[in-house]
Amino acid sequence: MQIIKSVEEMQTIAMQLRFGGNLISLVPTMGCLHEGHISLIRKAREKSDKLIVSIFVNPIQFGPNEDFSKYPKDWESDVEKCHANGVDFIFNPSAESMYPSGFSSYVGESFVSSGLCGISRPKHFRGVATVCLKLFNLVRPDYSFFGRKDAQQCAVIKKMVKDLNIPTEVFIVDTVRESDGLAMSSRNRYLSKLQREDALSISKALFKAKELVQDGVYNVDRIIAEITHMLSMKRRLRVIYVQVVDRETMEIAQKIESGTSMVCLAVWVESVRLIDNIIL
Ligand code: PAJ
Repeated sequence: MQIIKSVEEMQTIAMQLRFGGNLISLVPTMGCLHEGHISLIRKAREKSDKLIVSIFVNPIQFGPNEDFSKYPKDWESDVEKCHANGVDFIFNPSAESMYPSGFSSYVGESFVSSGLCGISRPKHFRGVATVCLKLFNLVRPDYSFFGRKDAQQCAVIKKMVKDLNIPTEVFIVDTVRESDGLAMSSRNRYLSKLQREDALSISKALFKAKELVQDGVYNVDRIIAEITHMLSMKRRLRVIYVQVVDRETMEIAQKIESGTSMVCLAVWVESVRLIDNIIL
């Protein structure tokens, strides 16, 4: 396994791999890898000859008061996990090399990114789309892998790839959860024991919503009300949004359609912002 820090070197190596006839997979991450990331890496490993994992905490997708400066890092463990899971290259550029002074070109998707997290994190998806487009241009992956845990991010990336004719096939991998249901996230590390206990209501509420739909409740308002009620019972939780949307377009659903509708939510667990979703 090789660690690449230089943007130019990444581009050259990826080009050589391509000319050598290799199928390339890319798994973009911000590091602090957990089983959710690893499930993407495993899927990507199956599909490709050469597997590249990027580890880059992307400054431009964080708002001014967000957790960029304290975003968790675990470099040694990340390298070990990549090595153990058959990664060929870790791409770990510096912020200065990705965004040299004077950088001024951004890509903004303006439909699927406008609601949900797009409201409370206005420049977030522009930052995500820009860094992913740069990674796609540097690596030119045949396949790229994203987690459904960040459903709106998946929708934004798929839309950008389609709209801009980017030659990569996007695969979406199901959310990996802790045994008690909490969706794995690098930000779970911030949670105290009590916060984590309250955060468990997030997945419980989503599972409950799915059960209701299975029992024949197809009313969007009722589903949202049930979830909001369960979350509001916990002292440390503050709801940012709970919405039922179309899983592809992220448009607000008027009625629930089985397999197509998805509940997306974002919650403050005191100072920790968590998101989760479930397909109904
Ligand atoms: P990060 O939060 O590190 O996540 C990297 C990838 O892992 C994303 O595609 C995310 O959806 C996926 N992932 C995270 N938790 C998961 C879980 N519990 N189950 C399955 N997949 C999970 O998302 C980002 O980084 C960044 O926005 C990035 C795309 C790298 C751009 O900077």
